[in-house]
Amino acid sequence: MSATAEGTWTRVGAPGDVPVLEGRAVTVAGRRIAVFRLDDGGWAAVDAACPHKGGPLQDGIVGDGCVTCPLHQQRFRFTDLVAHEVRVDGDGIFVRLAGAA
Ligand code: FES
Repeated sequence: MSATAEGTWTRVGAPGDVPVLEGRAVTVAGRRIAVFRLDDGGWAAVDAACPHKGGPLQDGIVGDGCVTCPLHQQRFRFTDLVAHEVRVDGDGIFVRLAGAA
């Protein structure tokens, strides 16, 4: 997905770009972020590199508030990963990096 800067929030795509229970990789300020659409209507955004050995979390299996990394099948709760703010507004998904003002 493409990203367009908009203040501290960055538009990273449209909700229709991400099917339910899937993730997509985006780049925000040079940082690789995995954006996930959850089955409860919510969204999650975390660093895309798996904390184990850098696997592509955006390609992981999503469920029960967790993502399972496709490389070695380790399962991580979204709340235990480096999480970023994510919101959907109209036709945009917006991400604000953790620690951003
Ligand atoms: S790199 Fe993700 S589980 Fe090993």
